[in-house]
Amino acid sequence: MKIAISGKGGVGKTTIMAMLARQLRNQGREVLLIDADPSPHMAESIGIKEVARIIPIAEMKEMLVERSGKVEGSPFYNINPQVDDLLARYIVEQDGLRLMVLGAIQTAKGGCACPENTVLRRLLTKLLLAPSQVVLLDMEAGVEHLGRGTIAGVDQLLIVTIPSQSGIRTALKIKELAVQSGIPRISFVGNLVTGPEDEAFLAEGLGEAPIACFPDSAAIRRTERAGEPVITALPEVEKAASRLLERLFPD
Ligand SMILES: Nc1ncnc2c1ncn2[C@@H]1O[C@H](COP(=O)(O)OP(=O)(O)O)[C@@H](O)[C@H]1O
Ligand SMILES: [Mg+2]
Repeated sequence: MKIAISGKGGVGKTTIMAMLARQLRNQGREVLLIDADPSPHMAESIGIKEVARIIPIAEMKEMLVERSGKVEGSPFYNINPQVDDLLARYIVEQDGLRLMVLGAIQTAKGGCACPENTVLRRLLTKLLLAPSQVVLLDMEAGVEHLGRGTIAGVDQLLIVTIPSQSGIRTALKIKELAVQSGIPRISFVGNLVTGPEDEAFLAEGLGEAPIACFPDSAAIRRTERAGEPVITALPEVEKAASRLLERLFPD
């Protein structure tokens, strides 16, 4: 199962992904997290030690260009670069959670169809097409820019939104683009939801109820301020995390 998460910046995507990852791990599932946010911070969120040593692959420009087979002065490069060894080399593992920090993947639409992005996209596609494990993909933007080949690996998109007019507008826009990309399942997840009134507001604005709603959590704020991994606050939002899990994996 490959699950991508999307939504406006700051709505809680990374937090919810981290909670979901921990919950899945507690169930004994094999989890791979992919951080494809331009300013990645999943590693902190799940409490990976020596975070500073992790360099997003997107920032290793030289290695990426070399891998693409591009020769200086020539416009040509390999559109199917070999990436298998990179998969092994750049995945970090701790407490049963595995993480690969990709960083931002730009595409032609985002202004750059460079060889290094071909390598990043190839990596992502390989990770998404690998069998058996649960892959959670954290991104800043929507998924529509990833291109068909990559999207083909995503089974389900979670769109996180908070109960506000602008949040709902953004969520609906993301959904529209995701539908066009052909992702089979698309669901909303509410965050900072304080009660039935917020839930009703979301359900009405979105045209469907979110599959799970996370409360505004003092424990999450505390961990953030103390510089602790947010997953240590899981007990306070466990009900919402379990509900999300049930909806994603009904059997
Ligand atoms: N349910 C919540 N309760 C309290 N604070 C939250 C909650 N969800 C997220 N936050 C806080 O909001 C900020 C943004 O969350 P984050 O997960 O980084 O958003 P995104 O990944 O969408 O940019 C973080 O400081 C996080 O600790
Ligand atoms: Mg984030």
